[in-house]
Amino acid sequence: MKILVTRNLPIDLSDLAQVAEVEVWPERQPPAYEWLLEKVPEIDGLLCLLTDRIDRTLLEAGQRLKAVSQMAVGYDNIEIAAATARGIPVGHTPGVLTEATADLTWALLLSASRRIVEGDRFTRSGQWQTWEPDLLLGADLTGATLGIVGLGRIGQAVARRARGFDMRVIYTSRQRCDLEVEQALGVEYRSLEQLLSTSDFVTIHTALTSETHYLFGDRQFQQMQPTAILINTARGSIVEPAALYRALQTGQIAAAAIDVTEPEPIPMDSPLLTLENLIVTPHIGSASVKTRRKMAEMAIANLLAGLRGERLPHVVNPEVYS
Ligand code: GLV
Repeated sequence: MKILVTRNLPIDLSDLAQVAEVEVWPERQPPAYEWLLEKVPEIDGLLCLLTDRIDRTLLEAGQRLKAVSQMAVGYDNIEIAAATARGIPVGHTPGVLTEATADLTWALLLSASRRIVEGDRFTRSGQWQTWEPDLLLGADLTGATLGIVGLGRIGQAVARRARGFDMRVIYTSRQRCDLEVEQALGVEYRSLEQLLSTSDFVTIHTALTSETHYLFGDRQFQQMQPTAILINTARGSIVEPAALYRALQTGQIAAAAIDVTEPEPIPMDSPLLTLENLIVTPHIGSASVKTRRKMAEMAIANLLAGLRGERLPHVVNPEVYS
């Protein structure tokens, strides 16, 4: 059997090498789509990343494919319906990156509210002359309202951390959570509109789907408070970039901190990069040593199960088995 791994992973691949011939794409940049398309007819298993476009054409060309295993929790880069139609199970890595991503969300929230990145730029550029009563004033967290958009695993982990800051937490999601979950987390349900108009901080934790694409546009920013701060560690395309620029530039909202952009990487000539009140990190939500190792292990376990014809432990399209 043959396996293609589309990037160097932070883990030993000998488990895979025992059952198959393993080819690892060696570059730092992802392989071109055309290269993948040429390669896919020869392989039995594909271990891919969110930077690989796995569409219908590619899946149909993968006549020998027994499994696609993505080292990420999100899978909006994969045409799941096409995989299911071909009978190919798709694996992903939920759970193991929840806490790391919630941590990064809080790192961004604190950085934006207390203007950490601006402060660092200020210091390094030699502007720090003395202690000033009104230098780099930010927003308090204690007593503030945190609005969580999407209360899945990561949204819940973010909510748990808010307790330590004595914040009021509200959330919105496609489906309201059970009362026990709401009570255990100390969160209250709101419509998106109510959440936007009353939150001091809004943090996005939904998957990217056709319904959440550009969920945040001009109208949503108009509903937010001028002191509000937006955090996005989910997917760039949930926020319309031009609308975010307008909102930050005109002071419709105070600041934003985003770990995901549209497109990725953010073009260096993006007007967003001219804004002082925006922090951008390079999609590093799950980027801790232990988390990335666990993600790689999980992706390998999914792939091995697929190659053996067993059910993937973490399968995105379980309908493939019915
Ligand atoms: C990262 O963005 C992931 O989906 O795991």
